[in-house]
Amino acid sequence: MTSNLTDPMNLNESLEQLRSETLEKLEKTRSLDELEAVEADAIGRESPIALARRGLGKMAPEERREAGRFINEVAKELEALIGARKELLRLEAREAAILAEAIDVTVDHTVLPKGRLHVIQQVMDEVCDIFVGLGYHIEEGPEAELAWYNFDALNTPPDHPGRLESDTMYLDYGKPEDEMLMRAHTSPIQARYMEKNDPPVYIVAPGRAYRNDTIDASHLPVFHQIEGLAVDEHIQFSDLKGTLAEFARQFFGSKTEVRMRPHYFPFTEPSAELDVSCFNCDGGESTCRVCKGVGWLEMLGCGMVDPNVFEAVGYDPEKVTGFAFGMGVERLAMVRHGIDSIRHFVDNDVRFLNQFPG
Ligand code: PHE
Repeated sequence: MTSNLTDPMNLNESLEQLRSETLEKLEKTRSLDELEAVEADAIGRESPIALARRGLGKMAPEERREAGRFINEVAKELEALIGARKELLRLEAREAAILAEAIDVTVDHTVLPKGRLHVIQQVMDEVCDIFVGLGYHIEEGPEAELAWYNFDALNTPPDHPGRLESDTMYLDYGKPEDEMLMRAHTSPIQARYMEKNDPPVYIVAPGRAYRNDTIDASHLPVFHQIEGLAVDEHIQFSDLKGTLAEFARQFFGSKTEVRMRPHYFPFTEPSAELDVSCFNCDGGESTCRVCKGVGWLEMLGCGMVDPNVFEAVGYDPEKVTGFAFGMGVERLAMVRHGIDSIRHFVDNDVRFLNQFPG
């Protein structure tokens, strides 16, 4: 087509051909990119139009005029056609973009169910919040623990039955300083914290604990505890009782009463178990499904920190006193919600879990 554009006959024919070819191609363009390619081919720097203009100089003067006029005419026409097509394609592109972004409010959409915290986590958060409100702060510790922190620093002698393999899950055997186990309670966090921090201490420490227990309605080998520790000058047993009574009232209701029964833990002396009055029957009904007519619910273990524990972590038992407590989170949740088996917490049945929206 570009051959011999200096010959007027050929020029006319070539440009006519360019015009009809370009028209055909234009109609097929679907995007601005495609249009640009057609534009370059038709009127760009290397297009027949440009070549023809460059060839004008070689023509005889009388032919040059007519040829120049024709080239301009075709060029103008093509420019106009290309411009119009460009406008159309731009409009289409914009409309497509708007359509793509539009939200059709009539479309039936699927709402993915929102997750929620597990009831155990909810109870743990709630208990921690109560103690934070009483001036405590939250601490954590490792679940794979040294026997030293789990037992020895807590005044638990080598022959204590809890140290048997039938009770505790061991990871490695050896001396207490390098014997590893899965912590059997959250109490090692007490020892770790005191070793690193001077008194006064007011901490709560939530977390998992592990015991070599067979699963039944009230035992899981992995469960949760919340540890509490207060160490200061002049802390007395009455402070322990008052603190736990306040906790019980906030957690179970303002009418809740507490009572303590003597107990034994190696790391507290004296030690006690705390019962709370049944929030369901207020301690008065023989048919109560929560307390089974007992009127009291066993809640947690506690006591005054044994001086030997203070010595193990480098505190002076002549200068400070303190109390500690540890509660089972599953137990709290079961009592609070009337749950009859601890297994529900790990069955992952959404019909159970959905009953605790939080
Ligand atoms: N660690 C004890 C347990 O797991 C509970 C406890 C904690 C008792 C702190 C006294 C003081 O049973």
